[in-house]
This record gives sequence, structure tokens and C-alpha cells, in this order.
Amino acid sequence: MAKADSVFQKRLEKHHDELRWLYMELYENDNMFAELSSQLYEYYTQRKKPLKKMDEQREKEPDWYKKNDILGMMMYIDNFAGNLKGVEEKLDYLEQCQVNYIHLMPFLDTPKGRSDGGYAVSDFRKVQPQLGTMEDLESLTDACHKKGMNVCMDFVMNHTSEDHEWAVRARRGEGEYMSRYFFYDNYSIPSEYEKTVPQVFPTTAPGNFTWLEDAGHFVMTTFYPYQWDLNYKNPRVFNEMVYNFLYLANQGIDVMRIDAVPYIWKELGTKCRNLKQVHSIVRMMRMICEIVCPGVLLLGEVVMEPEKVVPYFGSVEKPECHMLYNVTTMATTWHTVATRDARLLKLQMDIVSRLPKEYVFLNYLRCHDDIGWGLDYTWLMQFGIGEVSHKKYLNDFLTGEFPYSFGRGELYNSDPASGDARLCGTTASLCGIEKAAYERNEDALARAVQLDLMLHAYMLTQSGIPVIYSGDEIGQENDYSYHKDPDRLEDSRYLHRGKFRWDLEQKRTEKGSIQEKLFTGINRLEDIRKAHEAFGTQADVWTFETGDNSVLGIVRKNGAEKLKALFNFSEFDKKVWLDEESGTYTDLISGNKIQGQQVDLPAYGAYWLLSE
Ligand code: GLC
Repeated sequence: MAKADSVFQKRLEKHHDELRWLYMELYENDNMFAELSSQLYEYYTQRKKPLKKMDEQREKEPDWYKKNDILGMMMYIDNFAGNLKGVEEKLDYLEQCQVNYIHLMPFLDTPKGRSDGGYAVSDFRKVQPQLGTMEDLESLTDACHKKGMNVCMDFVMNHTSEDHEWAVRARRGEGEYMSRYFFYDNYSIPSEYEKTVPQVFPTTAPGNFTWLEDAGHFVMTTFYPYQWDLNYKNPRVFNEMVYNFLYLANQGIDVMRIDAVPYIWKELGTKCRNLKQVHSIVRMMRMICEIVCPGVLLLGEVVMEPEKVVPYFGSVEKPECHMLYNVTTMATTWHTVATRDARLLKLQMDIVSRLPKEYVFLNYLRCHDDIGWGLDYTWLMQFGIGEVSHKKYLNDFLTGEFPYSFGRGELYNSDPASGDARLCGTTASLCGIEKAAYERNEDALARAVQLDLMLHAYMLTQSGIPVIYSGDEIGQENDYSYHKDPDRLEDSRYLHRGKFRWDLEQKRTEKGSIQEKLFTGINRLEDIRKAHEAFGTQADVWTFETGDNSVLGIVRKNGAEKLKALFNFSEFDKKVWLDEESGTYTDLISGNKIQGQQVDLPAYGAYWLLSE
């Protein structure tokens, strides 16, 4: 290595032994480790001065992302603003939304019609031409940083597109590249894998292998057939993917969402999920970030049950991801909407609240993916609620199958064999805004808007970083145009991946419009959340009995503030018990003073009661 500068040297020294140990354990390859080390220095030197300055600031204040002043939004660049330049022009709008963290959905080069929403990357160093260039990305991240905004992007590390150069060369039979994927010239090993590996897309892409007629080989494809799984047993794959990661980080990215990370290591005879080598790799990536670009955070996409999610934070001494999605809480929230029974959500809140406060969750109501019903069925079984029938109930309710259900979702990967299905739809459509607006039912519409706001209030009550799904702030409904697009027809996730409705956005200043109610409502919640220490991540959080199964009660206590939050998940007005002793509170949302042991909580109401 050239004469490394002292900052780099110090960081490297801190991690070198552990990094080397983990690398050797997986790869036993000194030369490749030496190459990795020298490349880390290369990427460090290539990092721009302002980014290095930010790195140093963030190193000094490592908890910079753990306050209650970050509000995220995730968006598709084309849907939101056409291209990267367009997003840069719309930063003022995002500021008005109080957003200071934007997650740009996949924008790297991907083949049209075989893109999985951009999650099939054909070139990690090229932006999709219709969205712009790497220079545009850099200009956007610069502009965001000037406004104090962070930028998140996806690092799709489990697979590449079949059009990626490595895949093309592997298909041609070049051994060097075949070894970067999982190639088999007959079905015997694939069939062994199929015995233990579950399916991600059972109906839209069944099986975990794809037969390549021209190459005379099977290739492992956990997701779509055009997404070829990378073989991380090959150190060349790890090294090259790290270089791609650092290249992208150097474009000014603050948060790297490591996509589908539980899947990256495969072992015959296992489920090929969450294997211990995955944790070694994530830990190595964390150390690599801390060496080269310590300002960059790792956000793990671990859509699994809580016991599988939490280990991705690593330990205090050996942290892995900085942030993880609060996926079970999200799914349980929609279960609560469909059942009006908040008991499971209470349990889920308790589980999350008991975790160390260092763990930062990303809280969300909707994202670009479907809602998978990963609930605690063992707990539900005590009420005789079985998994298959309950999933069917939730899907029926939220797709509007019952006369009284207001949801307008669509099923996703409905698998007749297992009776399993997931769900798609925007927040507004799932809350009943679409149905009520269509039927011109003013009462139902007011209730639906109230439910939508209550859910946002609940999301903002959770510790961590709330992330709004672009369009939700103006109550955007489902977009059915994908039904007519042959490239998208099969994938109902496009239902909630519609173009941002700037025409509706205009209405957010029209008093009394749905857009105004939601936009100002959510904005107000965000104002309050930022201003009160009760919302700090250091707060003690616990739930309490409200005397009504439909009403969730949460306490947040931090410093001098104690806040009681109430959420009514039913369409009925409720009386709620607050305490043994009578107290005086201010509802921060309405500004009303409330006194007594019991409060009246309207249908789908939310209160943030600050004790006086
Ligand atoms: C992640 C993405 C999802 C994509 C999958 C495969 O789960 O969120 O949209 O289909 O990875 O890359």
C-alpha cells in the first residue's frame, strides 16, 4: 500500500485484524485480501473532500442518525420527477414535506421488461439512461447535502441481471465468470437445493433455478429467472461487489440499503437464508464502511420474523447494520386495521421497545413491496386463529371482499397450493379513501382520512426513522395502469408504484381537500415529533392497558416529558382509561386540554397526550 494517510491508517488499524480474520475464515486467500486492502485505500483517496469532512463529523457524532429529527421518504425517480435532475428541482417540495432523508428506488442500469423494478442490475456503475448520469447523481447528492438531506440507494448485492457483463460471459461458458454464479450442467444439485429452499415468488417465478438452453446449464435464480444469484463463496465476487459499493458510496450516498441481504450465502441442505456467513459478510462491510467512508450507513433489508431481523444489528462491540426495517410492526399494523384488535400490535410494540435503544428501526406503513403476513401465529393460535385462514381473512378484508370492508388492495403471489398470498395497495386505498371517494360517501371518506392520519401518527410514535412512501402525503390511490402493461401485468406491486400525482399535490393548499387534510395533518405530526423530547430515541417506551382491545396505548418518557399516545383502530368512538389517578394532559395533535382518568377517543382517533 502507498503511504496511506493517517486518518485512513488509524481506521484500518482499528479493524484490520478482525477484517482479516473474517476474510480468511471465508476465503483463505491472502492475495485477495491484500488486493482488497489496497483497493480500500484507493477508494478512500478517491473520496471527495466534502464527503471526507462529513465522515469526520459523523465519526465524532456517531449517533447523528439516532435523533427524532429525521423524516424519510422513498420514491421512484421517474414516477416522482422524471429523472435525477427532476428530483433535484423538486427538493423544495421535499423540504415542505419536512423530509430530510430520501430513498431513491433502484436507478442503476437494468434491462427493460426484465428489471424487477430496477432490482436486476446490469451495470453497477451506470445510471439508467432515461434517469440521467452518474454526474446527475453526484449533483443531486451535493444539492441534498447542502440542504441537510441524506440520500439512500439500493445496493442489490444478492444477484445481477442476466445482462450484466459477468452473466453474459458466464453464459458464453467462460469458467471465470461461471464461478461467480451457481452453474450446474444437470439437475441433480439444483433438485437437492429445491428440497430445502423456500420460494420467494412462488407464482410469478416458481423454483430457485433457471435452465439456460443456450448454455446447457442451470443457474440459481432465487428471485426472477433473469436475476442470477451471485456466488459469495468466490472471493472475486465479494471483492468486486465491495468495489462497486464504495464506488457508489463515493457518489455521495449516505445510506446503502443492502437488498435481500439474508439470501447472499447459499449452503446445500439449508434454507439458504440468514446463514452465519451472511453475518460475517455484513460485519466486513460495516468495517469497510468505517475504514473508507464512515459517514455511510448500512440499512439491511431483512424482511423476516423478528428473531431473524435483530441479529443483523450485530453486537455492541461488533455492529453489523446501522438500521433495519421494522417489518413485523408494519405487517401487524395492517392486521390491526383489518381486525380492529390491537392486542398483537401491543405485544409487537413491547418486543421492539425492550430491544436496546441503540437499535435504529425504519418505521413505515407502505413501501414499494407487497405486505407479507409475517405475524406471530403461535400467539394468535390461542384465539383459535390459524395462519392460512387468517391470511385469507386479512387479504379478503383488505381487497374489499366483504361488503363492510373498505380496503382496495390486490393480492400478490397468491399461491393456490399453500393458500398463501401477500397484499399490495397504497395506504390511502387500503384505508378506504379510494372506495369512499368513488362512492362519494362523505362520512366514509372522513373516516378513511382519519384512519390514514391515525396510522401516520402511530408510525411517528415509534422510535426510529419514519419513512413515508411518496404519494402517501397526499393520499395517492392505487394506479391500475399496470394492468395494461405487458411487462408489469404479472407483478401487482406496480399497483402502488404509480406516477406521483402533481395535479393532486396542487390541491394540498385547498382547504378541506383530502390532500390538504393529509398533508397538513402529517406535517403537523412531524412538527410535534421534532419539537418534543418524548419522541427522542432515548425515550423509555411501553404500552399500557386501555380497557379496550381496539385501542392501543403507548407511553414515551424521556427527560422531563411523559407522553401517552392513544390509537383507536375501530370505527367506533371509545372511552379509554388512562390511569389510576386522574391527570391533566394536553393533546399535542388537537391542542385540547384533557382532564380525568377517562378520555373520549373518536373513531380512528389518535391522541398524543402530554402530561402536565
Ligand atoms: C428486495 C426488493 C424487491 C425485489 C427483491 C429482489 O426484496 O425490495 O423489490 O424484488 O429484493 O431484488
